Amino acid sequence: MRAQVMGVGHALPQRILDNKELEQMVDTSEKWIIERTGIRERRIIDPEQTTSDLAYQAAVIALSNADIATEDLDLIIVATASPDMLFPATACVVQEKLGAWNAAAFDISAGCTGFVYALAVAEKFLLSPQYQYILVIGAEALSRLIDYTDPTTCVLFGDGAGAAVLGRSKSEAGIIASYLGADGQGARHLCVPAGAAARPASPNTLEQGLHYLKMNGNEIFRFATKITAEVSEKILAMTGFKAEDIELFIPHQSNLRIIKAAMRWMKIPEERTLVTVDQYGNMSAACLPVGLSLAAQEGRLKAGDLVLMVAFGAGLTYGGVLLRWGSEK
Ligand code: ACO
Repeated sequence: MRAQVMGVGHALPQRILDNKELEQMVDTSEKWIIERTGIRERRIIDPEQTTSDLAYQAAVIALSNADIATEDLDLIIVATASPDMLFPATACVVQEKLGAWNAAAFDISAGCTGFVYALAVAEKFLLSPQYQYILVIGAEALSRLIDYTDPTTCVLFGDGAGAAVLGRSKSEAGIIASYLGADGQGARHLCVPAGAAARPASPNTLEQGLHYLKMNGNEIFRFATKITAEVSEKILAMTGFKAEDIELFIPHQSNLRIIKAAMRWMKIPEERTLVTVDQYGNMSAACLPVGLSLAAQEGRLKAGDLVLMVAFGAGLTYGGVLLRWGSEK
């Protein structure tokens, strides 16, 4: 038995924030952003919408593509670093929006690695006969946590959501291996310092902007280039496949330089690597499911293809999933 992806979907806000507009907002330049990150534009969620709205939109498309009814869902997992609220879980808000009354629901907090963590967790749940269909979503409205006066972070992030419906497969299709890890020693390098139990919101935290995302970009960059290669190698070693067997490599989309370093290390060419960071920036936990959904929509995936997804993020967390594309009912 394998846990297979039965259908995918994604939702992206209409509003585009391009580098020229950012030039008017903070001390940055289009040239710097493109040279140092590869990002040209990103999407920003509408003021009246929130993370669960994007998650819901992506979920509806994924359910329709999988041809699964909402009442057949047994579990909803939302991976997010920008939940609607500290609690309840955004997954419960999505359950209500979908009317998926038979589903349990919880969130996963693993930063940009969230979707990989969620896939691995869903795969384990599908080992139990109690669970038939699981909705896994990566959804972010990170623009709500970004300080748009800080050029070192505000140029990097964007909003979006992607969803996948998972079920059991008796064929070769589905998740072949997953690998997860974390290094809590790096927790301080990427965080939202205030607004929760350690540092409740106060006039003081507001004044210091501690409710915004803070990042030590250089530390994350070093970690990211090393770990993307390590996770990829680990999964290939676990499964006996070689880099040339991978039909589509979907690395986390935070910086084109990190993606290119991983491609060089793995010797995977451009045409077999998915890049969305130029158009959508870093959508954290939404990067991989949006990428998977775009690849499916654009006909870049055919049944039997091997897909390798690798991510790293706040925590610091890291992980990867190798799956064989295709689904059977
Ligand atoms: N515009 C213009 N100049 C800038 C900008 C900007 N937006 N941001 C930084 N600079 C300046 C710096 O102040 C510095 O100036 P100085 O030399 O006078 O001190 C100079 O550019 C170089 O700064 P670096 O930080 O060394 O630039 P670098 O090339 O490392 O790029 C970046 C910074 C893009 C943040 C890079 O380090 C990076 O991508 N890091 C990884 C980030 C990442 O992956 N985060 C996601 C984690 S996943 C999650 O869970 C959310």
